[in-house]
Amino acid sequence: MQDSPRMIDTSNYIRFESVDSVERTEHGIVAGLHGEHLRIDLIADDVVRIKISRGGRFDESPTFALCVDPLAGAVEFTVEQSPEVVRLRTAGMVVTLWLDPFRLDVHRSDGTAVVESAADPTGNYWTYATLNDAFTLRRRCRPEDAIYGLGEKSGRQNRRGRDFTLWNTDILDPERTKEFTAWRSSDDLRSEKTSIEFDPYYISIPFFYHQTHTNGSIGGSFVDNGYRGHYDFTPRDEYRIHFAGGQYTEYIFAGPQMPDILASYSQLTGRMAIPPMWSLGYHQCRWAKYTQDAIEQLAHQFRDRDIPCDTLWLDIEYMDGFRVFTWNTAAFPDVPGMLARLAEQGFGVITIIDPGVKYDPGYWVFDQALERDVLCKTEGGDVYIGQVWPGNTAFPDFVTEEGRAWWGELNAAHVESGLVGIWNDMNEPATGAIPPDAMRFGGGEYSHERFHNQYALLMAMGTTAGLLEAMPDKRTFVLSRAGFAGIQRYAANWMGDNMANWDHLWLSLPMATGLGISGQAFVGADVGGFEGDTNPELFLRWMQYGTLTPFCRNHSSIGWIDQYPWSFGGAIEDLVREAIQLRYRLLPYVYTSFATASETGAPVQRPLIFEHQHDHAARDLDDQYLFGADLLVAPVLKPGITARQVYLPSGTWYDWDTDEVLSGPRYVRVEVTMDRIPLFARGGAVIPMWPSAPPSAAGYQPTTVELHLFVPATDGTYRSTLQEDDGTTFAANHGARVRTTFEVSRANREITLRAEVEGDGYPEFRRGEFELVVHGAVADTIVVDGTERSLDSGRLTLSNEGTPFMIRFLAD
Ligand code: GLC
Repeated sequence: MQDSPRMIDTSNYIRFESVDSVERTEHGIVAGLHGEHLRIDLIADDVVRIKISRGGRFDESPTFALCVDPLAGAVEFTVEQSPEVVRLRTAGMVVTLWLDPFRLDVHRSDGTAVVESAADPTGNYWTYATLNDAFTLRRRCRPEDAIYGLGEKSGRQNRRGRDFTLWNTDILDPERTKEFTAWRSSDDLRSEKTSIEFDPYYISIPFFYHQTHTNGSIGGSFVDNGYRGHYDFTPRDEYRIHFAGGQYTEYIFAGPQMPDILASYSQLTGRMAIPPMWSLGYHQCRWAKYTQDAIEQLAHQFRDRDIPCDTLWLDIEYMDGFRVFTWNTAAFPDVPGMLARLAEQGFGVITIIDPGVKYDPGYWVFDQALERDVLCKTEGGDVYIGQVWPGNTAFPDFVTEEGRAWWGELNAAHVESGLVGIWNDMNEPATGAIPPDAMRFGGGEYSHERFHNQYALLMAMGTTAGLLEAMPDKRTFVLSRAGFAGIQRYAANWMGDNMANWDHLWLSLPMATGLGISGQAFVGADVGGFEGDTNPELFLRWMQYGTLTPFCRNHSSIGWIDQYPWSFGGAIEDLVREAIQLRYRLLPYVYTSFATASETGAPVQRPLIFEHQHDHAARDLDDQYLFGADLLVAPVLKPGITARQVYLPSGTWYDWDTDEVLSGPRYVRVEVTMDRIPLFARGGAVIPMWPSAPPSAAGYQPTTVELHLFVPATDGTYRSTLQEDDGTTFAANHGARVRTTFEVSRANREITLRAEVEGDGYPEFRRGEFELVVHGAVADTIVVDGTERSLDSGRLTLSNEGTPFMIRFLAD
């Protein structure tokens, strides 16, 4: 591939060529090279950290991404040294430092490569090269290898063959995007900011996976650096990493399994907290000039039409002249009253809070910020001013503890009226027509570049801390547009301003799964499309798919047609209701998937490659995904189609609508009608469901939970879980839960379902029975804890208040 004129030219960079000393340390080694230090620390058997100093000093906390001390665990290792090479060995990998020329390779114990330094055609190695604070690395990569992750990126899931910039960007702002578009030819999709290839996006996560084509093994790389990054996967035999500033700190994960790498990465950068149950319900948002009456009317519409919904959102128009932490009191005369009435009907309300504080002496938030000295400054010491909705706008200095604490207090006071969550937007930070560069942090000490990509992370950190301080027992909910590695600890992300078109419906699939494998499990797109008029078919297909994504919010911009569930007539409304009802019925399963995400980092919306790493077909498959471990979703991505191709990976798969049993791996042609998108359940799974969809999930504790058991067609053991808890407090994390683990095993025709229960229970627990629903042909007689019972059309009611049980039956 040819370098474009804007590709970063590193030809003058100073390559570090030879190591002149090596010393063993507690965690690995430190070496001398080019007057700097190279430090290699073993973090785990399969994780190593590499650092190179600047000016002889190490930056020990380069960003806010990490939430643990990476050196806390003891790792056993040996160091072997010869005149040419030093090798560090753990139980899982070998880190090889070649002294002259300087090369750094990581291999697994079986000899397979994780990373290997690359040389240019003249034989010079580019293990590390630097110039004026920027640095670059080049690593070997075969053309047919696959690259995944890197957070919120456009285009196909396999990133090989493209290059990406990490610089949080308000993608619809022409002022901020022109540096990425203007120089491109018009046949380059990236010349258009609304294209499915546009880059960069709102969120920057410098973490990616490299899959070796030949053996399918995967390694991971996280560069802990918040400056502008550039990842170039276009060169034929290598990839290149470039950061515009800061120090080189990289965590290398040997894998070779993607879930283990993600578990390690999310152990370092944190996992999402267990979310409130209501936040997994359906969210209704719209940028509109609502009044209190209109919002209450909207709530009535949902209840009258029997469409489940948990939250109503208020966009910028609820404020007094776009001043954050204020209300337009003419439109909303009685906020606590409105919120209380809505809460009675099971609705929570979430308002937007942008970081920009209107530059407006006399406005209490602005005055307070000046008084407390918590605003970003310029080099000369002025308050930095950008342009957001209110016009001239100042920005909180979230890099300081005082700035974050102040913001936390404001948020805590704002939600006191009864709001259930906070929506953070424009936090790239977006500064409109005024470039952000003059905005400095830490009281003016730090350059903009150092913290630009971390601004949203720090904003969410301050917001969450404030909410938790005010309500220590309540799970928080913050939705953020921008983010950095670690954002999952504090906020969910939506994928910003999309277009109401089919391309953007598709775009949201690989984008969501890319975020999922980059540590952010709680993601969703604006369902229906944000900009442009949606249309009935697109809206329906998006709702049918969007209700099977982690964060399900219908949102659209002001000035376009309405896209409420009922906006396109009765036929569409009925189908949309069905889609939302299915989501609500699936909430026990969805909630459990989130509980797992909070414990292991495993995404809720998963690419097939996550579960089927050695399946070649899964590498480039990004028009379908797994929702949790056991549901496979293949959205309808085009108008007017009557069938689509679906790939079923190995295992038994049940067509959700017909119960037809299919075995993978195979491609199937699935007919689609308006009332469905292809959905499959994995054989061996037990999918818990509510028997019917409640109007809202808030506080819902049913007496019956259905257990849909999908009989596996092949011998083996399969596990699923159901977590039940109060859905609102952190008591669940301390044992106040009922967690049932289902183990389904098949040996010839004999099927056994063993349910084990863990947890101390919780006061709100109401369940008295499971309704077992068996999918697959089985004998009518079934043995429950030693007693014979009969199945009635595959169904059986089991009294159960949270106790273990065992069932046996024969498959046909
Ligand atoms: C931005 C947000 C969008 C919001 C709008 C007005 O465009 O991405 O979701 O509706 O601002 O606040």
